[in-house]
Amino acid sequence: MVHLLSLSRAARLVGVTRGALQKKIQNGEMPSFDGTVKVDDLLSVYPDAQLENNVEFDRVRLIKEKSFGKRVFERALPDAEVLAARVTELSTELANSQTQVRQFNILLDRLKIRLGEIEGQSKDALANALHDFKTWLNNEAAAAMQPGYANPLAVRDSILRVMAAHVRVLPSGHDFFIDGPDSILEAALRAGIPLNYGCSGGNCGLCKAKVVSGQIKKIRNHDYVIPEAQKQQGYVLLCSSTAVTDVEIEAPVAGSVQDIPFQQLSAKVKTVEPLSQNMALLHLQMPRTSRLRFLAGQYATVQVGKSLSADLPIASCPCDERNLHFHVRRMPGNLFSDYIFNHLESNEAVDVEGPQGEFILQEKSPRPLYFIAFDAGFAPIKSLIEHAMSLDAAEAIHLYWIGSDGEGIYMPNMGRAWADALDNFFFSSRITGYDLRAVSGKREANLRAMLEEILEGCPDLQSGDIYIAGPGSAVEVAEDFFLNLGLPKSRVFTGLVK
Ligand code: FES
Repeated sequence: MVHLLSLSRAARLVGVTRGALQKKIQNGEMPSFDGTVKVDDLLSVYPDAQLENNVEFDRVRLIKEKSFGKRVFERALPDAEVLAARVTELSTELANSQTQVRQFNILLDRLKIRLGEIEGQSKDALANALHDFKTWLNNEAAAAMQPGYANPLAVRDSILRVMAAHVRVLPSGHDFFIDGPDSILEAALRAGIPLNYGCSGGNCGLCKAKVVSGQIKKIRNHDYVIPEAQKQQGYVLLCSSTAVTDVEIEAPVAGSVQDIPFQQLSAKVKTVEPLSQNMALLHLQMPRTSRLRFLAGQYATVQVGKSLSADLPIASCPCDERNLHFHVRRMPGNLFSDYIFNHLESNEAVDVEGPQGEFILQEKSPRPLYFIAFDAGFAPIKSLIEHAMSLDAAEAIHLYWIGSDGEGIYMPNMGRAWADALDNFFFSSRITGYDLRAVSGKREANLRAMLEEILEGCPDLQSGDIYIAGPGSAVEVAEDFFLNLGLPKSRVFTGLVK
């Protein structure tokens, strides 16, 4: 039987991104059949993929997890019942295959007997031909029954099916894996798929979805009551269920900013940490009963103290739904900034409203991604990059971080760590030596020369999607620069950050 794999599963087996596989298919290096690939084709394109060779996949997974601030070591195996059910499923498949092999052997023996009878009744040329055919059949059957070559990727796929279930979302066609003890909702968000949800805790019912095929398991009790008639139709709460086998679910996926409701929530300050002398990381934690739904690249209004508020880009990824990160610049005299740097304490209650903004990733675009961050424009860009990583679909990601001064590039290690860990990630930084909030005259000429230099170093930039974020005056110059190159407006995206 031909063993076909979805692109996500195939990418996982050989430890590359889905984007890398898609590129091989587009280049004609690997055939694809309705969004699937054959195990044998996969092995011929990646001949070095062996069972033990999970190092690359683990390295990529770890860097993603670290960059998302996940507690990596809490993620382990699925629970024992789920594991047992998956092993049972595979054992049933194995037993069915063994029964089929036995039936084929019986059929083969009967065929040989029948051929012998016909040979006995035939004469001369026909008898000789039948004799030769019988000999050939015996040799081929004996060779086929030898314990032989097992495609290592097929073996690894069986292991993967025990360790992780595959979920396909209808009608959007998104797919993802559930590792460890995650719920279907947690795994979807981790994979960058914005399913509908509200509380993550079984109270609101917003994550209700229909299971179309496959076996799921309830992993926690929930207060929300699913009407009996809907239960019969296969409706479950995705935040309270996991998949035992590969499953298909019917669930809406947010595809645009209009699909995400405006929300008003209360969060707690987890930490305020200095990122540099003039930049702080404000880490908020959402309560267990409510989360802020947003798309990567959007911003929220944060209110501290009694009435001090600011619109800030969310610097974290929607895949880490309980933790919200913001980068706050020190601005002496600005009451909000002063409060964050001098008064805000851990566990203090903070109001969050949002999301807003249309600076989001064009997920369906097959083009490489180029990000240009000016100073604190890195915040929304970081969210977009982490989201792109969780989608695993980008062929290549390039980050250029341009700072007014050394302070402007306040998390250089993050860019370097991504570049070290991911083969398709490229990072470089530059310093202008002037304030990027006021770019005109000589400064503008200098900034254009800097962008020209970037372009010379990477002529392919013109074939990608370009995301630019930062202070208005720098963003305008960069946008104008790329549009003047002839790039259509539909491939240059801008986000303003003060
Ligand atoms: S997200 Fe609220 S019940 Fe699942």
